[in-house]
Amino acid sequence: MATPAKKPHLVFFPFPAQGHVTPAFHLASLLHHLHGFDVTFVHTEHNRRRLLRARGADALAGSPGFRFVAVPDGLPASDEDAAQDMTALLLSLPTLVPHFKELVLSDELLASTASCCLLVSDVVPVQRAAKEIGLPCASFWTSSASFFMACHQFPQLAAKGLLPLKDAEQLRNGYLESTVVDWVPGMPKMRLKDFPSFIRTTDPDDAIIALTVSTVECHRTVPSAVIFHTFDELESQVLREMSAILPPIYTIGPLPLLLRQAAGAGDGPAAVDMSGSTSLSKENRACLDWLDGKRANSVVFVSFGSIVKLTNEQVVELAWGLANSGCGFLWVIRSDQQRPVLPPEFLAATEGRGCVTSWCPQPGVLRHAAVGAFLTHCGWNLMLESVSAGVPLLCWPGAADQQTNCWLACTGLRIGVEIGEDPRREDVELAIRQVMGGDDRGEELRTSATEWKEKAALATKPGGSSWVNLERLVNEVLTPLM
Ligand code: UDX
Repeated sequence: MATPAKKPHLVFFPFPAQGHVTPAFHLASLLHHLHGFDVTFVHTEHNRRRLLRARGADALAGSPGFRFVAVPDGLPASDEDAAQDMTALLLSLPTLVPHFKELVLSDELLASTASCCLLVSDVVPVQRAAKEIGLPCASFWTSSASFFMACHQFPQLAAKGLLPLKDAEQLRNGYLESTVVDWVPGMPKMRLKDFPSFIRTTDPDDAIIALTVSTVECHRTVPSAVIFHTFDELESQVLREMSAILPPIYTIGPLPLLLRQAAGAGDGPAAVDMSGSTSLSKENRACLDWLDGKRANSVVFVSFGSIVKLTNEQVVELAWGLANSGCGFLWVIRSDQQRPVLPPEFLAATEGRGCVTSWCPQPGVLRHAAVGAFLTHCGWNLMLESVSAGVPLLCWPGAADQQTNCWLACTGLRIGVEIGEDPRREDVELAIRQVMGGDDRGEELRTSATEWKEKAALATKPGGSSWVNLERLVNEVLTPLM
């Protein structure tokens, strides 16, 4: 009797932060449920413990052909409820390599399917290790293509004397806002301010700049393909330019919409858990009930993702900006943000109009009819979820890719207004009134956000660009590489 063909096996090894784990899990779920791949999903020990605390053992139970494993991350134990320090995590990535190699080379299941195994990861040292041991690899870039293209310009910025900055004064004197950079392929009307915050350094040997340059370079040579969590229409100019500098590109997103299509497509998973499966924090679902009692488009949703921390002063300015806007608001303040002291007068002044909560089922909140605008740091997953729900943005970028995502939202997609990076209460109030008020600007943004919602839905329906690109990825890359 012929031996049964081995099922192709994918090892997913995402960068161990919420904003990377979420899309990686969604892509792994699609490839498992829709296309029959076996999956080994790798968490770090820190995140495995967070998942257990947040959601119990079910969060790691897996299912036949889909299992979770954990490896040490080499960092000292830290607050179980907090995202780890991003810079420390980035610089500690090489310590993941020996654990990755040991997993792939000694694990019984992976060893038995070695001939049809492939790595999907956005961790460059792990990608390089895979190449060393002969494991084919596809890279999964979980942020925007615009962010990748902006990072790709770092050597050019250096050659033009724009990186590093001459002195710290250039951070304060309007230099970043006034310096126009009009030569980035597919990204017109950029300012130095719109580049990833990594460039705001005066150190010619800055470690994060060096790591970013090396990461971009690796994407050109190591993986057999690069998957982007976006959709063709959303970043069409940049993606066209990028195809000249990278291996084959597959744009597949927004993933939560694809999962919903797959679940409803009849041949997809009966109930792919689309929101809670990857939350490393305990979700508070009561806020959905609170929203049920609010009028349509009357609430500003406020969330800064899983990493960004506001200073207490910024929290107070944001609070009074919300209060003085007169709008309802739902504000996520994560438990690890040491729950800053909200002014008692603020709580009294907004009694019944506002709701402050901890981690919430974010995609469900953005889809709620009561939510009329989203005040956010411009993390990429939150941006895609807002595009998918047709909700206009109030942009308060923090760091990393958020400046570039803010540029895309405001200049490229025209679905957002920029509040700034350290705004006063008057700035917050003005921006909220602009978007939530019935004036022309607010209507323009809402119309544009609705148009992008429709384009995202089209891209993820069977036959849409992202749906087709997922099938192309399977037929052109994953299966032949096995
Ligand atoms: C990080 C970086 O900050 C971001 O810039 C980068 O694009 C990805 O990695 P993060 O800050 O966590 O991400 O934001 P984001 O990318 O938006 O991801 C947050 C995820 O957590 C989203 O999927 C969101 O739905 C979820 N979330 C957030 C919740 O489920 N509940 C919440 O209360 C807040």
